[in-house]
Amino acid sequence: MLSEESAAVVRATLPAVAGALDEITARFYGAMFRDRPELLDGMFNRGNQASGVQRRALAGSIAGFATALLDSPDTRPDTLLDRIAHKHAAVGVTDDQYTIVHKYLFGAIAEVLGDAVTPEVAAAWDEVYWLMAGALIGREARLYQDAGVTPGEVWRPWTVVERRTETPDTVSFLLRPADGGPAPRARAGQYVSVRVRLADGVHQVRQYSLSSDPGDGLRRITVKRVAAAEGTPDGEVSTLLHERVSAGDELTLSAPFGDVFLDDPADAGSPVVLVSAGIGCTPMTGILAHLAAVGSTRPVLVLHADRSPADHALRAETRALVDRLPGARAVFWYEHPEPAEPTQPTQPTQLTQPTAQAEQVERADGADRAGAEFRSGLMDLDGIELARDATVFLCGPLPFMRAVRGQLLAAGVPARAVRYEVFGPDLWLPGS
Ligand SMILES: Cc1cc2nc3c(=O)[nH]c(=O)nc-3n(C[C@H](O)[C@H](O)[C@H](O)COP(=O)(O)OP(=O)(O)OC[C@H]3O[C@@H](n4cnc5c(N)ncnc54)[C@H](O)[C@@H]3O)c2cc1C
Ligand code: HEM
Repeated sequence: MLSEESAAVVRATLPAVAGALDEITARFYGAMFRDRPELLDGMFNRGNQASGVQRRALAGSIAGFATALLDSPDTRPDTLLDRIAHKHAAVGVTDDQYTIVHKYLFGAIAEVLGDAVTPEVAAAWDEVYWLMAGALIGREARLYQDAGVTPGEVWRPWTVVERRTETPDTVSFLLRPADGGPAPRARAGQYVSVRVRLADGVHQVRQYSLSSDPGDGLRRITVKRVAAAEGTPDGEVSTLLHERVSAGDELTLSAPFGDVFLDDPADAGSPVVLVSAGIGCTPMTGILAHLAAVGSTRPVLVLHADRSPADHALRAETRALVDRLPGARAVFWYEHPEPAEPTQPTQPTQLTQPTAQAEQVERADGADRAGAEFRSGLMDLDGIELARDATVFLCGPLPFMRAVRGQLLAAGVPARAVRYEVFGPDLWLPGS
């Protein structure tokens, strides 16, 4: 808990610190990487540094944590801290590194705010930093323990058993531990980090959701190639995986982590809604595969939006999994539907009444035998009936998630029931 004196100082200086955080974090990373370049080799993501997105996530989290401390001093913002701790564990952050970050962060604060940083101000923010660091270190220690690994030593070699092209810009890699040991426990929806050495010799780490639960010690990731656009280069790691990695090669993977997963006693009957767009389908197919593997009868509604059926990665697999699950059905939205799969007028979908759904699917022009229904345009939840007690998993580009979350809340889904995964540093959480 923040001391009373520090709370008063933090409250008085929060607007000034928050307002300067962008500049503070830019200087912080600049100085830290100048003195400790090894942190950019196999730990920090240089794409996120170049685009500034990691800087904004760090700044937002500190401001969010300080605000939460002032608003409710006796509790911790669990969602914020869990999200960061899982990401830290997935890149192998260790507790001694918090001293390094502290040194450069507070050096940058003093530089940017100058004389405003009196000894009292410095001490109060020091308290905030160590409260946050302490909460993260504790969570990360538990995550490492649960994963059965030494803190920071999360890496293990895996062999690519099979490489499969899913769409023109998406490939799946089926993997098995190269050391012959068992695959670590993973919860449906979680991700692993993949660490590769790039052409310039620098190692880079990226996260990929586990897109299937094939059993037999296997794991699968599905990677979309990030192509250059105006002013932005090709994605480094996804391009390397697409161009250079095939069956028989070895990849270095972390243990699985991630705070968004199906909390699944297999017999829990509550409904599940899986909402995704584009490559955001990967954690959803992981969850679906798990539900199918345990023979779940939970009501499951799969809602996915994509540019076209041909761009929809794991589309056939999603339909097959939906077909195997007695309580499941799917609705897909395509901006460019193929002529072979005509679109259909919007009809209400009853998650809670499987019989009514089945009849409706048979009647619908855009339905197929596997219980999937097709619509044209962007995802629109109007007319989709959502069970009030459903847990909703959401993943896709940020604008998509913002729009859909708004529709979900308007439809009466409680905010706490919506669990979202961001395929990058979470810029959404601190302000949400
Ligand atoms: C929890 C989680 C799960 C994920 N799951 C999946 C998954 O299942 N499948 C999947 O395909 N992806 C997934 N991702 C995304 C994945 O981790 C990578 O972010 C993605 O593959 C891009 O990495 P990259 O190295 O190819 O691109 P990067 O090299 O990291 O580039 C990322 C973006 O930054 C831009 N950029 C780079 N340098 C600059 C610069 N100097 N100026 C401006 N812009 C720049 C690039 O053009 C690109 O658009 C997930 C991410 C997270 C956090
Ligand atoms: C109190 C101190 C810290 C705070 C508040 C903090 C905050 C954050 C946040 C908000 C993220 C983004 C999480 C997300 O993906 O949504 C993150 C990621 C990360 N953090 Fe920290 N962090 C702290 C300490 C550290 C330390 C000590 C290290 C190790 C030197 C570290 C290394 C990283 C790395 C490598 C990532 C992933 C970066 C990326 O993918 O671009 N952090 N941290």
